[in-house]
Amino acid sequence: MFGLRSQSLPLILFIVVIGSFANVAAQQNNTSEFQPIGRGATDAEIADWDIDIEPDGAGLPKGSGTVARGGEIYDAKCANCHGPTGSENPGDTAIVPNIANRYCCATTLYDYINRAMPYYASQSLRPEEIYSLVALLLNLNDIVPENFVANASTVPAVTMPQAANYGINPWTSDVIRQPGYPWSHDNP
Ligand code: HEC
Repeated sequence: MFGLRSQSLPLILFIVVIGSFANVAAQQNNTSEFQPIGRGATDAEIADWDIDIEPDGAGLPKGSGTVARGGEIYDAKCANCHGPTGSENPGDTAIVPNIANRYCCATTLYDYINRAMPYYASQSLRPEEIYSLVALLLNLNDIVPENFVANASTVPAVTMPQAANYGINPWTSDVIRQPGYPWSHDNP
């Protein structure tokens, strides 16, 4: 570059810029309608996203939790929003008695807490903590006794009070939905 006269510089820049436009245009012309963007997800990446717990308990991890331990965690991480016993807040956040009144399956409770709570730090809880909270919340909803131990076999075995009022799965368009579906504040 040092040997070039300064008048040459704009010309060189012009050629470089035009050249790169031409290159892009050539690439666009050479590609088919669907461009291969990105790559397939790896098994490890899919496993990281695949956190759902199915109604029958498929996906539940190892570990267990008690009502008593759940009480400690609840006081530290949940009571500030859900109230000292879970029944203080009206509407959507009244986890007592919403869980008894609405959930088809105890496994849904695990799934929900695992993916969404605490509200400000979702997916921060370990399996033992979630099992303990499930045990506590089922107990506060009068569904299991105080000595209930939650784990991958006991949680799917719990019969929820509303279980019989849920429709068949998979739902098809010829099946009439439950009265009041979908739930709303006007139609609890
Ligand atoms: C910062 C406030 C906050 C904290 C802390 C919090 N929650 Fe929640 N929780 C909410 C809100 C808001 C909702 C309603 C979310 C919605 O409907 O989308 C909710 C909903 C829920 C529900 C569903 C209730 C229903 O009617 O189905 C459960 C269960 C629950 N929380 C459990 C917990 C547990 C367990 C903890 C502690 C680990 C916790 N939450 C901590 C704010 C909070």
